[in-house]
Amino acid sequence: MNIDGRPTRTITPAPDGEGVLVIDQTRLPFAVETRLLRSEQDAAVAIRTMIVRGAPLIGVTAAYGLALAMREDSSDPNLDGAVRRLTATRPTAVNLAWALARVSANLRGLEPRLRAGAAFAEAGRIAEEDVASCRAIGEHGARLIADAAKAKAGPVNVLTHCNAGWLATVDWGTALAPIYVAHDAGVPVHVWVDETRPRNQGAALTAFELNAHGVPHTVVADNAGGHLMQHGRVDLCIVGSDRTTATGDVCNKIGTYLKALAARDNGVPFYAALPFSTIDWTLEDGVAGIPIEERDAREVTHLTGRTADGGFATVEVVSPGSPVANPAFDVTPARLVTGLVTERGVAPATPEGLLGLYPERRRAA
Ligand code: MRU
Repeated sequence: MNIDGRPTRTITPAPDGEGVLVIDQTRLPFAVETRLLRSEQDAAVAIRTMIVRGAPLIGVTAAYGLALAMREDSSDPNLDGAVRRLTATRPTAVNLAWALARVSANLRGLEPRLRAGAAFAEAGRIAEEDVASCRAIGEHGARLIADAAKAKAGPVNVLTHCNAGWLATVDWGTALAPIYVAHDAGVPVHVWVDETRPRNQGAALTAFELNAHGVPHTVVADNAGGHLMQHGRVDLCIVGSDRTTATGDVCNKIGTYLKALAARDNGVPFYAALPFSTIDWTLEDGVAGIPIEERDAREVTHLTGRTADGGFATVEVVSPGSPVANPAFDVTPARLVTGLVTERGVAPATPEGLLGLYPERRRAA
C-alpha cells in the first residue's frame, strides 16, 4: 500500500544486506519511522515490544529473525535455540510457529554454511506468499461487500476490530483487504473502526491506514458496536484472526467475541478473514486449546499519546493500586462466525467448510 504516495511494505530486506527494515508501529500514527533489524535479538525485541505486530507480520519477522540468527551462528544448537527463542516472543498467533517450522525444516538437511542464504530466501518466499494470499482474500471478501451494496442505498457499513490491515501483514491486510479492493472498485464503503483498547490498534493503525488510502471511516469506542448494530448502522463485520482452529473457532484481539455476540443478536453477518498460515489444524476447541497472551498491566493502567506541543506523554488512568488483568485475545466460537474469508474463497466456519477449501488437509487427516 502507500504512505504519502510511496509504495510501502511493512517489512523488506535492507538493500545493502545489513538486515531487515520494518516500520516501527509503536510510532504510528504520528510518525512513520523505519527500524533496521540486524540480529535475531533485534527481531525478537521487535516482535515482543510490538514494533511489528499482527499475526502474518510476526510470522514473516520471525522467519527473517531465524535467517539473521543463521548469519550469526549457523550451527545445529543455534538453529534449535533460535527457533525456541523466537517462538517464545508471542504465544497466540500461530503464524509465528508456522513460519519458524517452515524455515527450520528447510535448513536442517543443509550444511551450516548454506543455512543463512537459504533462510533469507525462504523468509522472502513466505513474505511474497503472504502478499498474494492477502490480495486474494481481498478479492473474495470484496464480493461480500459488493453484494451488500446491491441490497441497499448508500455505503456499506463494515465494522472491524483491532488492526488487520496491511500493517498487520506484509501488504494488503486480511480484514481490510476486502475493504481496499471494494473501495478501489468504486463500491461505496464506510468502516466503523473499534478503537481497540488497551493498545488502540484500531484508533492508531486501522484509522491511519484507512486515512492514507482515502477510505471513509469513523473511529468508535470499543463498546459502541452493539448500539450501532441495534440501530441498523452495521451491514457486516469483518475481523482478522490470530489463530483459527480446524473447526472454525476464531481467536482474535480481545473484544472480538463480544462483537460477534452482538452481531448474532442483531442478524449482522460476521466474517473472519485469514490466510492459510493462521489455521491451526491440530486444534478443535479454540476456547480450551488456544494460549491467550497475558500482557503487561501497564497497557491498561496507562495511556500514551501526543501532546499539544507535538511531544508524547504517558498518563495514568486507573485507580493506583487496583489489580489489573490484560488478556490480549479471545476466541469467538465457530457457531457465531458466518464465514471464513481465505485466499481460496469464503467457507462456512465448520470442519467441512475448511476442508472444502483445503482438500489436501483431508488426505493428511
Ligand atoms: O496484538 P496484535 O496487535 O498483534 O493483534 C493483532 C490482531 O489481533 C489482528 O486483528 C490479527 O493479527 C489479525 S491478522 C491480520
